Amino acid sequence: MNLVESCHIYVLCRDIRIAHTSRVTETQVDIKMKTIIHPALFLLAAVATFHVASPGAAAAVSAAVPAAAREFLEAHNQARAAVGVEALRWSEQVANVTSKMVRYQRDKMGCQFANLTAGKYGANQLWARGTAVTPRMAVEEWVKQKQFYNHSDNSCVPNHRCGVYTQVVWRKSLELGCAQATCVKDQASLTICFYNPPGNYVGESPY
Ligand SMILES: *[C@@H]1O[C@H](CO)[C@@H](O)[C@H](O)[C@H]1NC(C)=O
Ligand SMILES: *[C@@H]1O[C@H](CO)[C@@H](O)[C@H](O)[C@H]1NC(C)=O
Ligand SMILES: *[C@@H]1O[C@H](CO)[C@@H](O)[C@H](O)[C@H]1NC(C)=O
Repeated sequence: MNLVESCHIYVLCRDIRIAHTSRVTETQVDIKMKTIIHPALFLLAAVATFHVASPGAAAAVSAAVPAAAREFLEAHNQARAAVGVEALRWSEQVANVTSKMVRYQRDKMGCQFANLTAGKYGANQLWARGTAVTPRMAVEEWVKQKQFYNHSDNSCVPNHRCGVYTQVVWRKSLELGCAQATCVKDQASLTICFYNPPGNYVGESPY
């Protein structure tokens, strides 16, 4: 079993775009992340994806959110509640964008990480091989970074990354949309979640 995560360069691109007084350590960490990712960039052919169906009547929106979406949402909202941050809500529109993206990565890119540098949403990704990844597993993998995050000074233990976790619990992110795709060979899969508005602004605390 092989899991690789990515908070996808949001910290780095915010750094460049906004020219905040930069936190160099975070930037370096994100560059290092790329070398970690590279072993994941071979691979594969396509097979399955789950796609988020549209909700029914407005009155029943939460009941109509598909099971996978509910699982993504609940896992995120547990992590947020644990630090007193209010819940995300599911966005069908955002989910549609992630769905298109994972299908593209599946069909054209062998399930490797998407290049989300230019995206307008916050994004977390998980690449896995040799194991089926449920929505809850993906989110729990991201939340493992919590152990490295120090909220009292908004810092991350050296040589570790916290940006995936801080996006999960980012207070100003309100909407969530996620999708997964699986490639046949090596049983590789890609999970992508988008967050709107995006988090991980350099120098800002998540909550
Ligand atoms: C999301 O995609 C579904 C299926 O293609 C479509 O029916 C629905 O209108 C889309 N929803 C939004 C908000 O774009
Ligand atoms: C990702 O896309 C950006 C522009 O959108 C590009 O500058 C960058 O080189 C790309 N990165 C990779 C690894 O392809
Ligand atoms: C977290 O940061 C505070 C303030 O810098 C520091 O006093 C504390 O020891 C840190 N906690 C851990 C677990 O490193």
